[in-house]
Amino acid sequence: TTTPTPTIELKPTANPLSTAEREAILANPGFGRHFTDHMVTIKWTEGRGWHDGQLVPYGPLSLDPATNVLHYAQEIFEGLKAYRQPDGTVASFRPEANAERFQRSARRLAMPELPVETFIEACDALVKQDKAWVPAHGGEESLYLRPFMIASEVGLGVKPANEYLFIVIASPAGAYFPGGVKPVSIWLSEDRVRAVPGGVGDAKTGGNYAASLLAQAEAAEKGCDQVAYLDAVEHKWVEELGGMNLYFVYGDKIVTPTLTGSLLAGITRDSLLTVARDLGYTSEESRVSIDQWQADTSEGTLTEVFACGTAAVITPVGTVKCRSGEWTQSGGQPGPVTMKLREALLDVQRGTAKDRHGWMHDL
Ligand code: PLP
Ligand code: COI
Repeated sequence: TTTPTPTIELKPTANPLSTAEREAILANPGFGRHFTDHMVTIKWTEGRGWHDGQLVPYGPLSLDPATNVLHYAQEIFEGLKAYRQPDGTVASFRPEANAERFQRSARRLAMPELPVETFIEACDALVKQDKAWVPAHGGEESLYLRPFMIASEVGLGVKPANEYLFIVIASPAGAYFPGGVKPVSIWLSEDRVRAVPGGVGDAKTGGNYAASLLAQAEAAEKGCDQVAYLDAVEHKWVEELGGMNLYFVYGDKIVTPTLTGSLLAGITRDSLLTVARDLGYTSEESRVSIDQWQADTSEGTLTEVFACGTAAVITPVGTVKCRSGEWTQSGGQPGPVTMKLREALLDVQRGTAKDRHGWMHDL
């Protein structure tokens, strides 16, 4: 499935948004509500491999109603961000890590693997073309990139498709949770699970998100912002949230649940294992049970909890609810270790701290 990198041919839009319209969007971008002027598309056909790379005007796709993905959900996606640097240039954060995860997701969903360099080239081409859409340096705003791939073969047979479409779109992003760094409340889902051993929990595929929506709605009914999922066998080991990984802070040690195969290997999660060590903390991966979560909080050894992911950066957890009760985390306030890690990671991303690990990819 690895064929030579297709060239990406430019067909610029004749109809970009005006500077004034774009500036109005950039003043309050929200998350995933507005999209830039272009998108990249690359096709894959059995026997031919990747071909027809194009940078085209952003716009609707025309799909036959029998297109495979619409029925059997053979789809994968990624999420990464590009940040305006102090000198006005743009750099993205660890795109090769996203490209590699995209390949792992592709293997799990029986899809062709896009070469890492093609994934990065496609993201770079779009950001370069729509550079004016990258928010100004200094704040938390960025350009969120959403590469994805769908089975585009027409037909209702249940089998890996013989045609795929890879697309990258981009969206200016402000805070994922409106209201700034405000602690979120978490509902511990003791019945509904997100993923099972041997399933697709560690692949970034749309079905995982569809499967999370009902539990998310139930959490909202309980007055909570997000759901924390537990393992599907014992219903006791903490896995992750619907779109973020979790970290537990024990004084100057941070602990994140071990990758068991049913949770996503977050790139923010991975980066924080290292950022924490850079700051003099200890970091480790370990299993964490809900009983331990509750007991260590009441004993005072578990001092902070936070969630992390590309879209939401680092978000403190303020309250936790489960069937047996409710408790607050670090007095319902953003904890000091959480905020220190958050600033340290954002400083690397926006280019105001040294990039000690070669994470930033200049365009
Ligand atoms: N877990 C899930 C289920 C996700 O969708 C995401 C978001 O991508 C994450 C965790 C965090 O991963 P990353 O840090 O790579 O964005
Ligand atoms: C991300 O953080 O990139 C995510 O994918 C989370 C969510 C928007 C699905």
